[in-house]
Amino acid sequence: MLNNKNIVMGVAGGIAAYKAVEIVSRLKKLGASIHVIMTAAATNFVTPLTFREISGNPVVTDMWDEPKKWNVEHIALATKADLFLVAPATANMIGKIANGIADDMLSTTIMATKAPVLFAPAMNSNMFLNPIVQKNIHELSTYGYEFIPPEHGMLACGVEGPGRLPEPAAIVERVVARLSPDQDYVGRKIVITAGGTIEPLDPVRYIGNRSSGKMGYALAKNAARRGANVVLISGPTSLPCPGNVELIKIETAAEMRQAVISESGDADIIIKAAAVADYRPQDVAVHKIKKAGETLTITLEKNPDILLELGQIKKQNQILIGFAAETQDLVNNAQEKMKKKNLDMIVANNVTLPGAGFNTDTNIVKILYKDGRIEDLPKMSKEEISKNILDKIREFC
Ligand code: PMT
Repeated sequence: MLNNKNIVMGVAGGIAAYKAVEIVSRLKKLGASIHVIMTAAATNFVTPLTFREISGNPVVTDMWDEPKKWNVEHIALATKADLFLVAPATANMIGKIANGIADDMLSTTIMATKAPVLFAPAMNSNMFLNPIVQKNIHELSTYGYEFIPPEHGMLACGVEGPGRLPEPAAIVERVVARLSPDQDYVGRKIVITAGGTIEPLDPVRYIGNRSSGKMGYALAKNAARRGANVVLISGPTSLPCPGNVELIKIETAAEMRQAVISESGDADIIIKAAAVADYRPQDVAVHKIKKAGETLTITLEKNPDILLELGQIKKQNQILIGFAAETQDLVNNAQEKMKKKNLDMIVANNVTLPGAGFNTDTNIVKILYKDGRIEDLPKMSKEEISKNILDKIREFC
């Protein structure tokens, strides 16, 4: 994915420097050539040898180590970089660049590069929230430097708040997205639903379905890679959340409805790949239902049809995409759903076909448009299908 890409990775002196090792390893596995520059402070946390072994390239730490070469070195790396990632970026390093200070190899090279620079700040919460740091971040953003916001959580210093370096996978995903040639969804908010809802019967049992979330998660991952602001509303799954995606976990259809309605107001595009239970038990037993007679009758009541409601409140220019999981009469049923729910497009899958539908890595879909066109996609991975769907949605944007 990152073949032929040169990434210069700046590691500044913070405890999160240990996470930079995994970031380098993951980027390397994706085919990138990684050149690490460490500040002197960073070498107190991780040795240059670790980065040299993981990246397979020499690690630069001191501008004056090789006096004959340094001038060439920082310009060479600055010019060579397709992307510059600084992780962790300390308050000190951010402050230096914001104030035009270039007094070590890392700050000098950042100042000399024309490549996109991504800072991933990590520091104590009070430091991060300090108005001086915030002003520096704001100022650098206005010059085009980009920031991967730190996460909120328990920090190494024992304080809870913003300042934690995001997980390496999320940072790598952001790098992949930044280097992806297709950035056609920048500035668009996409709400995607994935997985199945579960409807409780009692404290230990529920009615569910076979959705794994793979289809919706693939859509979320690829939309984020193409620059979209993605909100993923997901039923229970074992899948990791894709990087750069805001995940809202829900269990029941009612919870999904609440999340979808609250997120959809300012959404440009809504894609409903989730398998939502049409009915739920009318009464949820407070205690585990005891084994009694030969049969057990459970009365179900209707769940809200979220997509139908979205179609009714749809804003002008909002794009609404549904999925249809069918076992018979695929096209007619999907067409009917598209019309009834006021959709722009519906992705229909015959879930009885081998390699299609629930809990598979592949799918076989037909894409139906509101103008009557129907496109048949051959069996392909859910990854590829999601890319195709995103290409098709561009026709409406
Ligand atoms: O998750 P995977 O294992 O990867 O499987 C993918 C998938 C099979 C779940 C996916 O490809 C798919 O077909 N999703 C839609 C499943 C479904 O519930 O289809 P439906 O025909 O019952 O519903 C039609 C549309 O209305 C769907 O977009 C659904 O999200 C929506 N709906 C349905 C019922 C309801 N109460 N509210 C809804 O919003």
